[in-house]
Amino acid sequence: MAGYVDLVFGGWDVRDDDLALAAAEHGVLDAAQQLLAAPALGRVKPWPAIGSGAFCAGVQGGHRVSARGHREAIAQVQSDLDRFALESEVDAVVVVNLASTERWVDPALPVFADLPSFERGLDRDGPDIGPAMLYAYAALTAGVPYANFTPSLAVDVPALRELAGTLGVPVAGRDGKTGQTLLKTVLAPALRARALTVEGWYSTNILGNRDGEALHHPASLASKVATKGSVLDHMLGYPVDDHVVQITYYRPRGDDKESWDNIDVRGFLGQRMQLKLNFLCRDSILAAPLVLELARLLDLAAQRGHAGVVEPLGVFFKAPMTRDGNTLNTRCIGKSPRSRRGWAQHDQRLRQRVGRPRGRRRGRTGRPPCHGGRARGDAPGGHRRGGAPAGRPRSDRVT
Ligand SMILES: NC(=O)c1ccc[n+]([C@@H]2O[C@H](COP(=O)([O-])OP(=O)(O)OC[C@H]3O[C@@H](n4cnc5c(N)ncnc54)[C@H](O)[C@@H]3O)[C@@H](O)[C@H]2O)c1
Repeated sequence: MAGYVDLVFGGWDVRDDDLALAAAEHGVLDAAQQLLAAPALGRVKPWPAIGSGAFCAGVQGGHRVSARGHREAIAQVQSDLDRFALESEVDAVVVVNLASTERWVDPALPVFADLPSFERGLDRDGPDIGPAMLYAYAALTAGVPYANFTPSLAVDVPALRELAGTLGVPVAGRDGKTGQTLLKTVLAPALRARALTVEGWYSTNILGNRDGEALHHPASLASKVATKGSVLDHMLGYPVDDHVVQITYYRPRGDDKESWDNIDVRGFLGQRMQLKLNFLCRDSILAAPLVLELARLLDLAAQRGHAGVVEPLGVFFKAPMTRDGNTLNTRCIGKSPRSRRGWAQHDQRLRQRVGRPRGRRRGRTGRPPCHGGRARGDAPGGHRRGGAPAGRPRSDRVT
């Protein structure tokens, strides 16, 4: 596995600040760390990026490639990758998408259904193919392993999963699991194991960094809320109708993100309880080590000849990619004899029986068992050697 000291970083950004300037602006490092790292960071200057106002309306920056269409943009990215590999004398290159969150795109669109459709979409400069997908396609067709740390739609469509498998390139994604969602995925199995039925989960958070600024735009926010919101039902094994996810851009906080969660649960004999969680965290400090490990593990996967989605890397993500395109835990539910609707009905029946002790015997949980770079922009790196009762309206998921 590549050693940390052997990693070399490069990448694209629509802003042309070098990394020392960017780190100073965002206040990620403390003064002593900034002083120490500035000379090395200052040497890393971003390459002109594939930017798109249509996909990232909240992102400023004119440091862009002058490509006349999708194919030219891809060729530019590949030539940057070649140059990077040559100049830095690395043995291998991986790309990790760390760019701003793009607008939500429907993965079920016909253009993403298979490789020929996607290739035609590229030839026609299809408007639903955004920068994240162009970088992903450029990496895959150059034989470079690719991970998507963002909520943007990139390699997780049938066409590009197929391409990764065919070309024998390892891929992983989507949306790094660093703060609030990490804690959600730690708590949910515990609540489930103790048969504490989650009736509602209210998650809100504030952040003031540039990611927050990008997410201030409703189209990009929809992508983030989709990945943040998907995880809970899958882990619990039943739909939580009142799962609210709120993200607010609040400038004074900068990179110091804060999240609050209120969880309403129902326990033995139908008794109600609440759990409150407040995480004061550092967005980039939580993310950076994950990105390093992702890069090293993807490279290891490539050395071992892994082709396509590397499912074990799902542990790093909010919406883990799988080889068949389903969410990991959806598949676990799929194995159960009950459908998702079945879960809700089952749960309701369970609640109705509380206080009627002579009901049919249930399992322990009352449910069927479930078996179940750079710090900016896309970044190549290399190395030298209980649902709500039926009929009740759902809470708004996005506010
Ligand atoms: N804890 C975390 O930091 C965390 C956790 C999970 C996911 N993410 C995701 O990772 C991404 C990066 O987060 P961040 O906090 O570093 O954001 P950031 O806004 O600080 O950095 C993103 C950078 O991408 C650049 N950019 C925008 N469009 C680009 C393009 N098309 N090509 C190249 N560069 C482009 C922007 O100019 C900006 O410098 C976001 O999508 C975020 O949602 C971050």
